[in-house]
Amino acid sequence: MKIAVTGKGGVGKTTIVALMARVLRDAGNKVLVIDADPDMNLATLLDIPDKERITPIVELRNLIAERTGTDVGQPAPFFTMNPRVDDIPEKYCVEHEGIKLLVMGTISMGGGGCACPENAFLKSLLSHLMVAREEWVILDMEAGIEHMGRGTAIGVDTMVVIVEPSFTSIETAHRINKLAGDIGIKSLKVIGNRIRNEDEKNFLYENIKDLSLLGFIDYSEEIEKINLKKTSAFNLSGKPINQINELLKSI
Ligand SMILES: Nc1ncnc2c1ncn2[C@@H]1O[C@H](COP(=O)(O)OP(=O)(O)OP(=O)(O)O)[C@@H](O)[C@H]1O
Ligand SMILES: [Mg+2]
Repeated sequence: MKIAVTGKGGVGKTTIVALMARVLRDAGNKVLVIDADPDMNLATLLDIPDKERITPIVELRNLIAERTGTDVGQPAPFFTMNPRVDDIPEKYCVEHEGIKLLVMGTISMGGGGCACPENAFLKSLLSHLMVAREEWVILDMEAGIEHMGRGTAIGVDTMVVIVEPSFTSIETAHRINKLAGDIGIKSLKVIGNRIRNEDEKNFLYENIKDLSLLGFIDYSEEIEKINLKKTSAFNLSGKPINQINELLKSI
């Protein structure tokens, strides 16, 4: 399965991607997670040691220039739109606790569809990862999916939009749904996160309207402790893990 996780800022995307990766790995799956958010927090939540040594793909300037037929630092009026990328995942991913991580880096994702070699390279790489890889691939994205190309959208089995019990996060979900339809995403499902009671569930039911709801993850002090570095995504047990497991089964 190839999943792209998105949603308004701060709704819990990176936390949920890390927990999904851990749950899938526990079940014996091969998992590759891709950090495509300019903030690049996934390595932290996956406890990757020496994470400052990870080079975001977009910073591989010589390689990108070579593959796109351009010169580093020079204007690039012409460049290859489909550079070779198939060797990149194995060469540049880091593996920890049986989970592979690839960090894309900031520039292109925030580039407003910039027609530059870096963008062409990242788009080709994302398409390759989504179409050609055999394992579970989970993509941690920002809410602005405008930068996702059709080539990547084709490979995505389900786009998962995280919402919290707030009107604005639901507005974002509806906006993402429209954009997702425009680029050809086949399936979009919503997860309600940080739920404290039945009222909050009902609020989500009422407002997500025609969007498809995958299920809920309760507010959990244990989950919160992951970000406080008082526990790890790998040590969590009990209800949050069971809920993530159930959600993954129904994706
Ligand atoms: N179910 C939950 N229960 C309690 N706290 C949660 C839950 N889910 C996420 N959080 C907390 O919410 C905060 C934001 O989570 P996270 O960084 O994963 O969000 P994000 O959507 O990736 O944010 P950004 O948009 O900045 O990338 C973190 O402190 C995290 O611990
Ligand atoms: Mg995040």
